Amino acid sequence: MLTENSIQILKARYLLKREDGKILETPRELFQRVAQHVTIIETKNQSQWADTFFNAMANLEFLPNSPTLMNAGLENGQLSACFVLPVEDGLSSIFETLKNAALIHQSGGGTGYNFSKLRPKGDQVSASGGVSSGPIAFLKLYDSATEHVKQGGRRRGANMGILNVDHPDIREFIYAKSKEGSLENFNISVGITDDFMQAVKDNADWNLVNPRTKKVQKTIRAVQLWDAIVKSAWHTGDPGIIFLDTINRDNPTPGQGRIESTNPCGEVPLLDYESCNLGSLNLMKVLKKEDGKPIVDWAKLESLISVAIRFLDNVISTNHYVLPQIKKRSTNNRKIGLGVMGWAELLISLGIPYDSDDAVRLGEQLMEFIKVKSYEASRALAKERGTFASWEQSIHYPHAPIRNATCNSIAPTGTISVIAGTSYSIEPLYALAFKRVGILENKTQMELNSIFVSEMKLLGLWNEKTKAKVLETGSVQHIKYIPVDVKRLFKTSMEIPWKYHLLHQKAFQKHTDNAVSKTINLPKTVSLKDVSKIYKMAWEYGLKGITIYRDGSKERQVLQKCSFE
Ligand code: CDP
Repeated sequence: MLTENSIQILKARYLLKREDGKILETPRELFQRVAQHVTIIETKNQSQWADTFFNAMANLEFLPNSPTLMNAGLENGQLSACFVLPVEDGLSSIFETLKNAALIHQSGGGTGYNFSKLRPKGDQVSASGGVSSGPIAFLKLYDSATEHVKQGGRRRGANMGILNVDHPDIREFIYAKSKEGSLENFNISVGITDDFMQAVKDNADWNLVNPRTKKVQKTIRAVQLWDAIVKSAWHTGDPGIIFLDTINRDNPTPGQGRIESTNPCGEVPLLDYESCNLGSLNLMKVLKKEDGKPIVDWAKLESLISVAIRFLDNVISTNHYVLPQIKKRSTNNRKIGLGVMGWAELLISLGIPYDSDDAVRLGEQLMEFIKVKSYEASRALAKERGTFASWEQSIHYPHAPIRNATCNSIAPTGTISVIAGTSYSIEPLYALAFKRVGILENKTQMELNSIFVSEMKLLGLWNEKTKAKVLETGSVQHIKYIPVDVKRLFKTSMEIPWKYHLLHQKAFQKHTDNAVSKTINLPKTVSLKDVSKIYKMAWEYGLKGITIYRDGSKERQVLQKCSFE
């Protein structure tokens, strides 16, 4: 059942090891360890629940985020992937958060921060009589600290750095990653408000405000900043943008403050000191045949959702929190994020091209189903276990009692989709063939997408010639004898018009209470005008954030690089 890649990754990063490197468990035992750990809080039918959770993981129908797989059952096992920490305008807060981030990274989690409270570069510092270094200097400091704290030796910490669009240092921030190799451990995003988007539309002035004095430091045209963001993103893929007002319209606990940041890949907006546990359903496992035709198995999906929601809620109760503040917030709000992987492969199996309105419609229907059933499952848990502590102060009150402040996120599934042997998250196939550097022997090997190979075999088109042509480019679009409908079905990420990348993100975001992590992959030839249009449409579509990648704009890392780091 597990692919060769999956076994390699499990051996290198997930299976328990002795100090001398000897592997101490099998993949089956890993899933047992996790299932047993998260059932310790079950008061009834404990062994049945352990079996149910084990089966969902061992059948690769549902997988929790990597830290849960790596750390469950270990002493002080930290199980969450996502955190946000505060950065206040003072050295003590900056270094306190740096220390806490190191502890989180060491335990396998990733952290996001908004640096906008820091006074701008060159501003006065009363304690020393000198001038301040500004947020970008501290961003660099966090980046190099991350470099040296490997996550338990298994993967490097990931960070999200945000600066709001009215900060005086915003221009420097926009270009902070433009030099190849800078801020490698950070994703950066500009925090954008509705006012700013309106000012861009109206070609109006925009004030940059010193957060220390609250005084306007400079006034510029909003469009100037917008063009800088677009230009930099076109050149390097960075910065992304996040829409703070859209995020806060969905903030489930506004009484606890405004949300200013997301986790590293953007799928979870969080308050300071909040964490979130993610898990993803493998959509390739919810297919069945009716009259010989593959269709979605909605009944199986429904039952997996309720198992997954219970699993993730159990993770909150059986988690070891690295900081007391994080424990307090996380157990008060009980945020979880159930999402999906294998969306592109599901569409291919159903014979629906990714760049079609049918695909977008099905995406919306599927995510609505997942949201409705996730909320039903969380409500059933509230009946059994009680609501989250701050429910009465949340936007869920006075609706039916619910156990979790949020239920859904679409995570990138950078490693767990490799373990499950399917396509990432809701992304189209990146390529039909690609080079993968083996993590154990460091050998490079060529790989082909298995669904593509099966389809070619079925059509009688699988031969050395086809293989060689596909290995060369990773695509079938240039091969004359491949039928048009097959070409359509097997379009890869760069070959999908951006309009459909956006429409898929929109379809899934519509029914996701947290956010959707997605990269809008673009061909090299895309214009600045198009990038600007994409960013504007993202706001109009109600997306919570957006990231683009233009082919060739930076050296593309080996596929699944994050899992090898
Ligand atoms: O597939 P996996 O569970 O390993 O993770 P993912 O879905 O690719 O990423 C989910 C979240 O894990 C990210 O948004 C980060 O918060 C965190 N992460 C991290 O801390 N370090 C990494 N190297 C990769 C992901």
